[in-house]
Amino acid sequence: MRVLGIETTCDETGIAVVEDGVRLLANVVLSQVPLHERFGGVVPEIASRAHVEAITRMIERALEAAGITPSAPGGPPPVDAVAVAHRPGLVGALLVGLTAAKSLAIAWEIPLIGVDHIHAHIYASFLRSRPPFELPPEKEVFPAVSLIVSGGHTSLYLSEDWTSHDLLGSTVDDAVGEAFDKAAAILGLGYPGGPAISKCAESGDARAVNFPRTLLEPDSLDFSFSGIKTSVLYHVKGQDRSRSAPNRAGIHIPDVAASFEAAVVDVLVEKLRRAVRRQGTRNAIIGGGVAANRRLRGRLDEFAAEERINLRYPDPSLCTDNGAMIAGLGWQHLARGSSSELSLDVSSLATP
Ligand code: KG4
Ligand code: ZN
Repeated sequence: MRVLGIETTCDETGIAVVEDGVRLLANVVLSQVPLHERFGGVVPEIASRAHVEAITRMIERALEAAGITPSAPGGPPPVDAVAVAHRPGLVGALLVGLTAAKSLAIAWEIPLIGVDHIHAHIYASFLRSRPPFELPPEKEVFPAVSLIVSGGHTSLYLSEDWTSHDLLGSTVDDAVGEAFDKAAAILGLGYPGGPAISKCAESGDARAVNFPRTLLEPDSLDFSFSGIKTSVLYHVKGQDRSRSAPNRAGIHIPDVAASFEAAVVDVLVEKLRRAVRRQGTRNAIIGGGVAANRRLRGRLDEFAAEERINLRYPDPSLCTDNGAMIAGLGWQHLARGSSSELSLDVSSLATP
């Protein structure tokens, strides 16, 4: 069974075709970074407009890359279902993807499946572009603690199966990817900040600056990253608030980048450790754009070995937003006999 996945929650137009919930037949992503970088963040109106301009062409490209030729009107549908991320995200951007998905569902007379974007990040670990194209047995994977680290979200979930995720904790202020983006802006490293900080940190000393590791209450599974962002600002600017622009002279930027990255990674690993111990599970799943971070992956591997945890994370190319994770999770919903009405709406909020 082939599912077309549509992702337009933020600044990537991602379209994919996934077979049987696992096998990537096509996965095309158009990033809008060049449109937003001069603003230092995503501008919602520009994002929606860019999705409108790109989406039809991207759907055609994905079908072509999957080797699927759309049949003449009245012929068999080119895919068996269409899945779309309908929450959470920028409302205008979400509406573009949802409208495209509904149009295809009506034209091809196939099921429409609304998918939660964050739950789809959890699913990304199970997609494959090479054999074996098989999902592990559900009882090997769940229950699991899932950690989602992205530009818009930082959350821990208790995952009972592919589609059921209960929130354990989330950020009380900035998302971790947002903290990377803001710290990179302060350090003059460009946008998006995650990959830029990560690259710059390679030549820095992670022990150079002792940035705060904000862990909140001893039993808290929530996150807070606004303090470390302010610490980076003060470190670069000094305590003198009268200077309006960051003064980077005399600061060794790679050391600051490496120290920032180390502090953030320590917090993420510690929170995952707390959650795993509290839930008494041996499984953890990581997802979201920041899961591409090499230092984080290295520390998570150490943590998994220490705690004897079965840890899963996506291929780096599937950490950031893409349509494949939407198609994959859509297939799971369909396999459970669940699809959406054509009255499906968008929401800026995550599933409660
Ligand atoms: O999951 P994603 O594509 O979008 C959201 O759902 O929000 O995540 C984007 C975020 C950005 O903040 C970006 O800076 C961050 O992921 N990111 C990284 C890396 N690659 C992307 N952060 C740290 N290290 C990376 N290698
Ligand atoms: Zn995302």
